[in-house]
Amino acid sequence: MTKITTSNKNLIDLDIKYCRIVLTEDKRSWHRLVETQEGILEYKMGTGKWKNIDRRAFRTLVRTIVQTAKVHQLRQIAVELDTKAFSKLNEFGSDWIVRTLGENLQLAAYEFTQYKTKDTGKADLKEIIVCGTLSASEQKSFQTGLIVGESANVTRDIANTSGEDMTPSKLTAATKKALVGTKATVRVLGSAEIKKAKMGLLEAVGKGATDKPQFIIIEWWGAGKPTAADKKTGKKKPIALIGKGITYDSGGLNVKPTGSMHEMHMDMSGGSAMIGTMRAIAKLGLKKNVVAFIPAAENSISAESMRAGDIATSMSGQTVEILHTDAEGRLVLADAMTYAETHYSPRVMLDVATLTGAALSALGQHASAIMTKDKKLQETLTELGEKSGDLVWPLPLWDEYKSSLKSSRADISNIATNFSRFGGCIEGGTFLSFFAPKKTPWAHIDIAPRMESIPSDKLAKGAAGEPVRLLVAFVEQY
Ligand code: BES
Ligand code: ZN
Ligand code: ZN
Repeated sequence: MTKITTSNKNLIDLDIKYCRIVLTEDKRSWHRLVETQEGILEYKMGTGKWKNIDRRAFRTLVRTIVQTAKVHQLRQIAVELDTKAFSKLNEFGSDWIVRTLGENLQLAAYEFTQYKTKDTGKADLKEIIVCGTLSASEQKSFQTGLIVGESANVTRDIANTSGEDMTPSKLTAATKKALVGTKATVRVLGSAEIKKAKMGLLEAVGKGATDKPQFIIIEWWGAGKPTAADKKTGKKKPIALIGKGITYDSGGLNVKPTGSMHEMHMDMSGGSAMIGTMRAIAKLGLKKNVVAFIPAAENSISAESMRAGDIATSMSGQTVEILHTDAEGRLVLADAMTYAETHYSPRVMLDVATLTGAALSALGQHASAIMTKDKKLQETLTELGEKSGDLVWPLPLWDEYKSSLKSSRADISNIATNFSRFGGCIEGGTFLSFFAPKKTPWAHIDIAPRMESIPSDKLAKGAAGEPVRLLVAFVEQY
């Protein structure tokens, strides 16, 4: 773990053990590591013209500083940012700047070393000091950024863990551990309760595995738990956040091919994002009511597995013909959505899932896909994506798409009855729309494109920890 702090000293007044990162306006690839006569290490780093640095470039710049320190195996670095010089950022305010700084220093410092027996040198960076005078409000924003970034790293740790070590019951344990010391509460429905709640889709997906499904509920009543009177008048309704918790997706009997399966320990990234988000919300003490739901199951292969062609009854009562066992995420989410609406009548519902490979075909790996019929929600999420760095981009959720899921044997099927591969990302959202609450605004976020980092992210390989920053920002603002 890298210790990240601030200091109101100037860079030049620091102890000489810190390597000083000095930003210059030279072109971005330019850099020099020099040792002064006093034995002070100075790393000069070109950033390009400061007046051209926008929100996206700023995040990349912060991450590049940390990545550079790692490449050179520096143990302690200090950096001073003259943020006023980044004139394009002024309109977003200094609180945004320092929060973004905190978030991205944390994200970039992260390394996943759980399974390494030899020192790779990548985790050598022990300390980062940010120099300069911060106002009380900026100091608070910086600390908020650190908490959000750290929580996204908790999300990454959970998602990066192998399927064997993160089965549904282990995911429950990891949830409780992540929230230790906070006032968020965790409630878990096991097999018997899932059956009793009639969550037939969640049950079907997990029945081939040894470790059976769990339904994890995390509650945070920052605005006060609604009383019976509140419930009558509709006050203090929570925000519902639902995250896909497939702890390993083998594809089931429609088994995935080589090259498509080995990363499916990250198929609970939606769920782990909820754990990180709830941790951040609780640590920040946000005065909002939020409940997260994680339908957790392993999509495994055995004589007990659901078969293609099986028909399961959802909690909503609608029957589903499972035409493809690898389209399992939408099944567990459907029951979670019904459960959330029935037991919590939320004021808004978001679901987050590594739902389709087709989302990557549509958007590449730079943004997650959002689907909603609520124009306002779409605008809010898109703008907060830009603000937080967890970019999202809309796809349509028109009624025209619904007809392809009309099953001849059951009410609906989980993939198009003609097995069409076109518009697969929208198909996933469309399936979920059959289970969406009628009056509550709802948005579906397919984070498959952002499940793992890509080189331009300047982050450690593996889980990207998205969209924790977006969800926290959403809860703060909604
Ligand atoms: N978990 C996968 C989707 C996925 C693929 C996430 C790649 C991240 C990276 C999901 O359960 C799945 O297998 N979807 C199928 C749906 C298809 C059978 C309609 C897919 O995308 O191929
Ligand atoms: Zn699948
Ligand atoms: Zn999946």
